[in-house]
Amino acid sequence: MNVPFYRHDLTANDATAVAQVLQSPFLTSGNVGRAVEDRLCEYFGTKHAILVNSWTNGAVAALLALDIVPGDEVIVPAQTFIATANVAELIGAKAVFVDVDPATLLMRPDLVRAAVTPRTRAIIPVHLYGQMVDVAALQEMLADRSDITIIEDAAHCFEGELNGEKPGTRSSCAIFSFYATKNVTCGEGGALVTNDTALYERLLQARMHGMTAGAIDRFKLGGYRHWDMQRMGMKANLPDLLACLLPSQIDTIDARLPQRDDLFNVYERAFADIPVRLPTTISNSRHARHLFVMHVPPAIRDEVIQVMGENGVGVTVNYRAVPNVTYYREKYGYTSGLYPVSETWGAGTISLPLFPSMTRDEQQHVINAVRNKIVPMIEASLASASR
Ligand SMILES: Cc1ncc(COP(=O)(O)O)c(C=O)c1O
Repeated sequence: MNVPFYRHDLTANDATAVAQVLQSPFLTSGNVGRAVEDRLCEYFGTKHAILVNSWTNGAVAALLALDIVPGDEVIVPAQTFIATANVAELIGAKAVFVDVDPATLLMRPDLVRAAVTPRTRAIIPVHLYGQMVDVAALQEMLADRSDITIIEDAAHCFEGELNGEKPGTRSSCAIFSFYATKNVTCGEGGALVTNDTALYERLLQARMHGMTAGAIDRFKLGGYRHWDMQRMGMKANLPDLLACLLPSQIDTIDARLPQRDDLFNVYERAFADIPVRLPTTISNSRHARHLFVMHVPPAIRDEVIQVMGENGVGVTVNYRAVPNVTYYREKYGYTSGLYPVSETWGAGTISLPLFPSMTRDEQQHVINAVRNKIVPMIEASLASASR
């Protein structure tokens, strides 16, 4: 049996939605996207939502709209996807890393506080694997620094909540990814949600070259309307051709979460007695169950991925610690040991298949592969390490 790492839920109805956009004269960002933005506002309870063509471009647009400039510092966790740090570096700011909590793998507010300097302008907490960082605690920690803005990386956390609050409730904005393996996907895409109307106005421009009117608005009043450019921006808009894939998923995302929950719980029970480490689930939270990750001895991690592949199971790595990749190591001279929790987790973490349409047989196949093939490898590795 082959179990892919991810299988999307898009259907023939979504193909019909694409066909409908193709029948209209307007392929880029228009009324279909606007309707999706309204749905996102409703779902997250925010005043505004803006579709973008990736989390990455949405985050760069947000940093531009927030007037983060070269030389500013942006604090990010060391355990995340490289994009979280790259967006700061892309605009000439410095990504400053902090380590994560050993149990939850989430950014630690106390370490953020210790990393703050007079040049700090933004913090990007990452709701890793589907659990939310405590944004309220972060805000409390930064109460004396109103010049520091919080941008939530909610790429993994569409459905997540902490203490009844969704991403985007407290921060300046939360940014989602609709990349191919995300819980809500249109292949490539993303969205920002915010309650800050002034920021929203700037984001509209930052998303579109700094222009004061997008294509759909230039003809709104019947005739052509000139646009101006008032700030630097980029090309980060999502075309209706992709936006049309989102409504069916947004409408069913909460109904699909119990399936993810169920798969997650079955994995946790199946692996409760084997020598692997799993992240802790936070109480008072709703976990978006984006990724099921476990930690195996780093010395055999690559072999584990290979053996799982030979047994037909798609496995990936989310993520090796970002300061350890060549770019950051060489640019800032990082040595190993600076971010011990992220480095240790990143050296041994693997992600197993997790998607709502996974069948019982498919999940059992993954569990059997771990228990029958991987556990003996882990036991041998632990025995040789203790010798
Ligand atoms: C935590 C995190 N942040 C940011 C991104 C970047 O998202 P995108 O590919 O939509 O730019 C990803 C994508 O995998 C991610 O996992």
